[in-house]
Amino acid sequence: MTRLFSDGLVMMAMALGHRLGFYKLLCEATDPMTLQAISDQLGLKERYAKEWLSCMVAAEIVYFDRDSEAYYIPEAFKTELKVRTAFAPVLMQLSDRCDAVEKCFKKDGPYGVSYNDAPGYFNWLEEYRNSIRDRAMEEEILPRFREQGLAAKLESGICMLDVGCGTGTFTYALAKHFPKSTFIGMEYSEKALVIARAKNEQMQLDNVTFEYGDAQALPEKWTGHFDLVLLYDVLHDLPNPHKCLDQVYQVLKPDGVLSLVEQAVAGDPMDNRGGVGMTTGFYTPSMFVCLPSSMMGEPHVGYGAFWGIENIEKAILDHHFKISHSNRQEVEATKGRVFYCCTK
Ligand SMILES: C[S@@+](CC[C@H](N)C(=O)[O-])C[C@H]1O[C@@H](n2cnc3c(N)ncnc32)[C@H](O)[C@@H]1O
Repeated sequence: MTRLFSDGLVMMAMALGHRLGFYKLLCEATDPMTLQAISDQLGLKERYAKEWLSCMVAAEIVYFDRDSEAYYIPEAFKTELKVRTAFAPVLMQLSDRCDAVEKCFKKDGPYGVSYNDAPGYFNWLEEYRNSIRDRAMEEEILPRFREQGLAAKLESGICMLDVGCGTGTFTYALAKHFPKSTFIGMEYSEKALVIARAKNEQMQLDNVTFEYGDAQALPEKWTGHFDLVLLYDVLHDLPNPHKCLDQVYQVLKPDGVLSLVEQAVAGDPMDNRGGVGMTTGFYTPSMFVCLPSSMMGEPHVGYGAFWGIENIEKAILDHHFKISHSNRQEVEATKGRVFYCCTK
């Protein structure tokens, strides 16, 4: 219990440190830095900076050289820290929702909370997704698309719909990578769409657009229109994922493909024991974000992130898709991300 509480509290300091720029500075530094240099470069009061650094030294994330009285992050930690610490501020997003989620638990409280009701959530998602975007593209998305034969199609020029695209991080990354294809990002959160659309001022891509809409009620004009539909980390958030799968089936061309990305966790918590990967920890964001989202509307299925891959596969098959490719066997032991390629 002591370890559990201690790690949770260190994560809170990590979240603050990420926001203040400590990790970026220390990961980019080629030499150890004194307290004064760190405080000056970040524009911080030395006393506060010292408290944060002391916490990180005790946690063995930042190291301190007594002779030069300077702080540093070991080279071996840098790559992971630079990418991973952007996840930590999710704690602030979750604690912002604590009152609302507490009400949802109560029998006489509301069913759920929408993504729209989380003021800073999409700013966090945007920053977090940006921090993992290049790695996710190179190590996850593009290799899977190549294995699934989708990369060649995207290279020659097809039409893709990114359902529940969030702030459009992957929509843009794919649009940039495959300039001959056209991409539509669809979202029901106006807050996410504002961020997604604003990014095109810098990106200047003419093959990507964003539309407001509900994943469970896709417009009729899209019937039979798309070669590829992406559902990245979305299906389990929906109050009626079954309706969404029906709708996706409708908007795909006869030879179209659904690419579905979920976390390879089990539906039964007994099979998630043992602290593999982030499995245990992910129950918390699911409880605060995914579950309240999937309880929002009729029929309040409330699957959340722990719907379980066995149940997701059953839903895919029940909705007349065939699973033509998946990396389930590779990722199941590590509870990583599972990619499905589904055909009609
Ligand atoms: C975990 S985020 C994933 C966003 C994006 N796919 C990504 O990976 O960055 C889930 C997204 O689903 C969206 N969403 C939830 N319910 C939706 C619905 N009924 N229709 C469309 N989007 C929805 C949320 O607003 C949120 O942006």
